[in-house]
Amino acid sequence: MKMTIRDMDVSGKRVFVRVDFNVPFSGDGVISDDTRIRAALPTIVYLMERKARVVLASHFGRPKGKVVEDMRLGPVAERLGELLGAPVKYVADCVGPDVEKAVSELKDGEVILLENLRFHPEEEKNTPAFSKQLAVLADIYVNDAFGTAHRAHASTEGITHFLPSVAGLLMEKELNALGGLLASPVHPFACVFGGAKVSDKVGMITSMLKRVDVVLVGGGLAATFLKARGLEVGHSLVENDSLDVARDILRESEESGVPVLLPLDVLVAREVKAGVRGKLVPVTSIPSDMGIVDIGPRTIEYFFGRLESCRTIMWNGPMGVYEVAQFSLGTKCLINYMTALDATTVIGGGSSVDAVHEMGLSELVTHVSTGGGATLELLENGTLPGVDALADAP
Ligand code: 3PG
Repeated sequence: MKMTIRDMDVSGKRVFVRVDFNVPFSGDGVISDDTRIRAALPTIVYLMERKARVVLASHFGRPKGKVVEDMRLGPVAERLGELLGAPVKYVADCVGPDVEKAVSELKDGEVILLENLRFHPEEEKNTPAFSKQLAVLADIYVNDAFGTAHRAHASTEGITHFLPSVAGLLMEKELNALGGLLASPVHPFACVFGGAKVSDKVGMITSMLKRVDVVLVGGGLAATFLKARGLEVGHSLVENDSLDVARDILRESEESGVPVLLPLDVLVAREVKAGVRGKLVPVTSIPSDMGIVDIGPRTIEYFFGRLESCRTIMWNGPMGVYEVAQFSLGTKCLINYMTALDATTVIGGGSSVDAVHEMGLSELVTHVSTGGGATLELLENGTLPGVDALADAP
């Protein structure tokens, strides 16, 4: 357990809050999903109400240590101000005299957002001198950027060497929910894995296989696993480099008796684009000129049957090419089914989160994680550098 802002007297203090405002923008410069900004509100409001001077800092995108005009955080400051119903100041850098002056002019309960931390190469290099420049802006450091806690950067790790460092409320919520899956899940416990890449998820799948009662695999991942079992998968996206690792996972499943269930039937299509009609086939008859785009109805029933009795379900990654409407049925059916069960449900990261939001079902999920890579790494390793760096609760 980590200390949190609730353990600190923040009144009148300058509090540096690392947030993850790495939010998606649509082509016309409008924030297309403000979930991560909303998720940080409880911490920000808590600090404002207790008259702290709130200094927010985030990265956005991967500007590679240079100023990239499109990656400035001005629009995020505006959106945050709308959500808070209070002005949010914004300064066009994150260190240096101008920033120090702007922070020194903050009054109790006021909020300022600093510029994109990654405009400075020292952020990702975790340079102590840069961490110190960030640290002079505050009396207390709070990490609420769960989505970036798998990075040991200056603003997530380095700065903790210079200031009393505690978790924010979002960080606490994520650690409780995801840590709970690792520490004390109610059984039967199922993991549902989908999405595109086995290589991104292999560590998490291997780790979770030791903790769960059943693993269900759909989405792009399924093609690599089916091929590893010796089936022809047409022109489905297969990671040939991950075939051995998929075989290892299947072997481990046999040895441990924890089943890894693969699709029985799939929807295949010649092209992945709107308007293209798919064809349902058993996984043993995938045509050579088609690729998998969704799980089929027999698989959906099969997966329902295994999930029905589960009391804990962790889901990561869509069951098909969710973005294309006619290939999204498997994902939608599974989300609907999962949210109707009497189970603790956790959705971990990436496009599975977009899917549950779009369907308007987030409220029915026990916990929707704001992390992508951070969620995968926490479930793989049980710990993250940005969390380890925070003070332990007594
Ligand atoms: C994310 O979106 O997963 C986090 O903000 C981390 O971003 P990064 O992968 O660029 O470090």
